[in-house]
Amino acid sequence: MLEPLPSDIPKFLEKYLPDNGPFITLTYAQSLDSRIAAAPGERTYISHAQTKTMTHYIRAHHDAILVGINTVLADNPSLNCRYGTNNSKIRPVVIDPNFRFFSEDINNYKLIDNYKRNNNLKPIFIISEDISIKDESVLNLIDIIQIPLVDGIMSWSDIFTSLHNLGLKSIMVEGGATIINTLLTTTLVDSLIITIGPIFLGNEGVQVSPSSQVKLENINWWTGIQDSVMCANLKK
Ligand SMILES: NC(=O)c1ccc[n+]([C@@H]2O[C@H](COP(=O)([O-])OP(=O)(O)OC[C@H]3O[C@@H](n4cnc5c(N)ncnc54)[C@H](OP(=O)(O)O)[C@@H]3O)[C@@H](O)[C@H]2O)c1
Repeated sequence: MLEPLPSDIPKFLEKYLPDNGPFITLTYAQSLDSRIAAAPGERTYISHAQTKTMTHYIRAHHDAILVGINTVLADNPSLNCRYGTNNSKIRPVVIDPNFRFFSEDINNYKLIDNYKRNNNLKPIFIISEDISIKDESVLNLIDIIQIPLVDGIMSWSDIFTSLHNLGLKSIMVEGGATIINTLLTTTLVDSLIITIGPIFLGNEGVQVSPSSQVKLENINWWTGIQDSVMCANLKK
């Protein structure tokens, strides 16, 4: 069960949520020392129950939620929406160029189990176009999009265009660090929503720090019982 949404959150977020067109929201929770996990692969709680509800409220405004494969393997997230009437109507998307997920026992993962129980929409995995799917039964549990890799990297415009082409217009990107750090230096992000929890996770933690300076504008802050949330747009 989620805690109730703080009553001033909808107004605070209003200008930073998608309307009808294509829209990319980048959102995550970080510590005071800009870490999003205490160590690679260690599931870490940073945010208060209030901002957890806010995250599900934000999910309710999006068509898809996107994360990198390391986040799925480390945290086993549900990637669904438990706020309001949009319950589970968000499509999980995982960037997994080498299809590492396929080497796992995929039934152990919540996003697969929830899909089987009708608590999640069918997950989409975005993998390299060089991979051939040998066991097609996997397609009963996940959909696959194949995209070219250039030097091991997929272009973000290719990724978002392929999702928009499926009718998934508004995409909420939640991490992990590789994804956040690279997207911060593009011009593709429409809104940035960062929850800051009052904790230092230390220098072994997974760091958010893009490769170059990123300036922000239209900045707005909210403060709750424990966390602060900053909404902004990236200066283009
Ligand atoms: N606090 C939060 O809000 C939050 C949210 C999400 C995650 N996290 C934390 O973040 C950590 C994981 O972060 P991470 O940086 O290790 O991993 P990640 O960003 O979840 O996944 C990175 C992997 O995704 C693939 N990838 C990402 N962008 C790509 C691109 N443009 N083209 C091709 N492949 C791409 C690569 O896979 P290959 O290696 O196969 O090439 C890459 O190694 C976990 O500890 C998790 O707990 C925290």
